[in-house]
Amino acid sequence: MNYVLYLLGIFLLGTVFASALASYVFLLPPKHPEGIPAVPFWVTLIPFFKDVDQSETFKKYIEEPIRTHGAVKLYFGARWNLLVHRPRYLAEMFKHEDVYQKSGNQKKIAHSVLAAFLGDNIISSHGAAWKQYREVIKPGLQRTFETETLARNAEKLCDLIGNASIRAAGGTRGIPIQELLQRYTIANIAQVILQTDFGTLDRPDATIHTLQTALKQQIFKPVFMNFPFLDRLPIPSRQAAREMAAHFKDELASRLARSHEKTDWESPLSSDKLGARLLEARRSGRLTEKQFHDNLTVLYVAGQENPQIGLISTLYLLAQHRDVQERLRAEISASGGDAGGKPTHEVLQRMPYMTAVVYESLRVLPPLSQLINRRAADDVMLDGHVHVPRGTYLGYHCYSTHRDVDYWGPDADRFRPERWGDSVEGIQRFYRQKRTRAEFVSFHGGNRACLGERFAVLELKVTLFVLVKRFSWQLDPSWPNKMTPAGPLFPKALRLIFTNRPASGQDT
Ligand code: HEM
Repeated sequence: MNYVLYLLGIFLLGTVFASALASYVFLLPPKHPEGIPAVPFWVTLIPFFKDVDQSETFKKYIEEPIRTHGAVKLYFGARWNLLVHRPRYLAEMFKHEDVYQKSGNQKKIAHSVLAAFLGDNIISSHGAAWKQYREVIKPGLQRTFETETLARNAEKLCDLIGNASIRAAGGTRGIPIQELLQRYTIANIAQVILQTDFGTLDRPDATIHTLQTALKQQIFKPVFMNFPFLDRLPIPSRQAAREMAAHFKDELASRLARSHEKTDWESPLSSDKLGARLLEARRSGRLTEKQFHDNLTVLYVAGQENPQIGLISTLYLLAQHRDVQERLRAEISASGGDAGGKPTHEVLQRMPYMTAVVYESLRVLPPLSQLINRRAADDVMLDGHVHVPRGTYLGYHCYSTHRDVDYWGPDADRFRPERWGDSVEGIQRFYRQKRTRAEFVSFHGGNRACLGERFAVLELKVTLFVLVKRFSWQLDPSWPNKMTPAGPLFPKALRLIFTNRPASGQDT
């Protein structure tokens, strides 16, 4: 008996000691950078216990310290990070990529399922590898994209919305919009960027869409995002997730290869078509098999998840602001859109309000609201006075910077497209200025800025052009107006009520 008590005592003492050590090592915020407050470590864990709205978590725990000090220490991914808010700090981070080096999941949490899925790729790599990937990829993303396919797909999206609305009690109840938008954004990235087709607008059970939905639920589970070391344990569901990720990558690559079987391989690298360029880089050995798979996967994920979230948020904001829908409709009419006009580059170029709506939506609800992806290669002084020790992970809080009254005025929290101006030239000038000052950072900045921005903005504009002509929409009153609890910040499981609009412009 005594012996059992003795063992129990040792076990308890050991547990207390191990917990204390773990708290000391992991949970106590680091001393440096001095003068930068820490958000309590348990704030990141709140979504495990409560179905929270992360815009409220931000207001309650992060907004005040991050605005006052320009940055906070934040516990995420089982380590303390420096989360930056002040544009001057951001601009410096973007400018000195050699010091604040990209360091993605393949380095940070190499053993994780997420790292196995995305691998070493153009977004998260650094130095020579990044240059090598960029040479293959950049021309395929910086070309002028055709609008016809986007507009045709947007019409198909409208048909799917119309059918789903009829099924939802004849249009009186809202429809969940995310699943339809995922099928739509997959079709766009496949057809316009990769020159392939996954059939997602024709079949609700298209393989890629079904696999992707299942995979997202596994990969982005908050507990594994926060404690990636758990992926080292032999947990059966994680092993299944790893296999699912590998299967998804194979499916993507083999479908791309199949749709290019008839490609003339004489000169695809002189082509600006991304699908052919990636395949040719693999064929010629410019990319290894693994590099090809990793880059294809990340381009697919970034190229359709981010616009998907951007569209959900934009439709949400426009449902809340039906006057903005009306103004857009008037601008489309004036552009000849009512008389069967198409959203060509020339037509969109003459639509300042459309441009302002898209920028304002990306400002108020940036699709990547928070991002931690850089690591200090040396001991450095950020903006001359924040001492950042070598090895510190840094990131930024786009949502916070974009809503700071110091940079966006007293109504920074409001969705108000008019703030951008009323002429296309004026709006673009203002946009460039805000980007240079790192006050608008939805697409990152410096030489690592998003290469898909041009496509993403075009996709948002074409979609709005077609949707606004066909429907007016509002929030389903029974939808609990809430943002996601963790990860990218956007309306959670959004439901909208769509009403058909006849060509004359009257509601039916
Ligand atoms: C609204 C939509 C989009 C948003 C908000 C967005 C945002 C971003 C952000 C914040 C980064 C930096 C990521 C990081 O440092 O971890 C980035 C990089 C990148 N994005 Fe996007 N993106 C969007 C759409 C796209 C699309 C459609 C593509 C095309 C496939 C794309 C391709 C890329 C690439 C290749 C990079 C890496 C650039 C480099 O480091 O050289 N993005 N994007």
